[in-house]
Amino acid sequence: MELIDGKAVAAQIKSEIAEEVRQILVSGGKRPHLAAILVGHDGGSETYVASKVRTCEELGFQSTLIRYEDNATEKELLDKVVELNNDPDIDGFIVQLPLPKHISEQKVIETIDYRKDVDGFHPVNTGRMAIGLPCFVSATPAGILELLKRYRIETAGKHCVVLGRSNIVGKPVASLLMQKSDPGNCTVTVCHSRTRNIEAYCREADIIIAALGSPGFLKGNMVREGVVVIDVGTTRIPSDKTKSGFKLSGDVDFNAVAPKCSHITPVPGGVGPMTIISLMKNTLLAGKKAIYQ
Ligand code: GUN
Repeated sequence: MELIDGKAVAAQIKSEIAEEVRQILVSGGKRPHLAAILVGHDGGSETYVASKVRTCEELGFQSTLIRYEDNATEKELLDKVVELNNDPDIDGFIVQLPLPKHISEQKVIETIDYRKDVDGFHPVNTGRMAIGLPCFVSATPAGILELLKRYRIETAGKHCVVLGRSNIVGKPVASLLMQKSDPGNCTVTVCHSRTRNIEAYCREADIIIAALGSPGFLKGNMVREGVVVIDVGTTRIPSDKTKSGFKLSGDVDFNAVAPKCSHITPVPGGVGPMTIISLMKNTLLAGKKAIYQ
């Protein structure tokens, strides 16, 4: 069994990006600039956004954090999105999800200029991704593909079972893995909360991407020997053993599943660090106008 070390791969990509930023600055180019909008004080969102801002600093990017209280109106948020769309200094920006219930996430996402949508959530980007055109690919699926690539995991002809059908992970990763590309060329099955006999699909899988948000869902008796398991779960479980007061739990019963795997990602330290670095890669591409003019 080989542990897929997302932290180490992310660190390597980080130094590649930092070097590219240095080159851009040496040749008189502009520092990439990422803005993030955070509404309210959700613990997970606070942590993710703080980590994104910190990574920007480490890479030599400029970052701008724009905060709103929970009672911000949809109009206030949409006006800010339009302002960022029109600000030539901002290369890309994200609106951290989830948003409070009174604000339509879809409306906000569709208001973002797709050319600055470094999260890859805008329908232009998801649509282009689905038909294999250049676009911003959302960070978690992009990070998963990068891990498969860097660990030279063969995907062509393999049966990949995706657990979960979210717009952020399940749907895009399924779409990417079925494409005529490398990584890709998989036979993909998407399972979800209404799938009957999910265990049977998992036992058939060469690769399992677990993105249900259900701690410890994938058990040892649900996988076959030699499987590749990518755990996308990051549920916060209260804990008195950590400084933060919680620990992250993946969707995989790691101790039972790992011994049967050829490769497996841990939680934390697997997909998580790759997600942030993929967002940074998209911001660099946005700064270079490498995808859209
Ligand atoms: N909430 C959970 N994951 C993400 C993400 O990748 N981007 C944004 N904007 N919000 C999220």
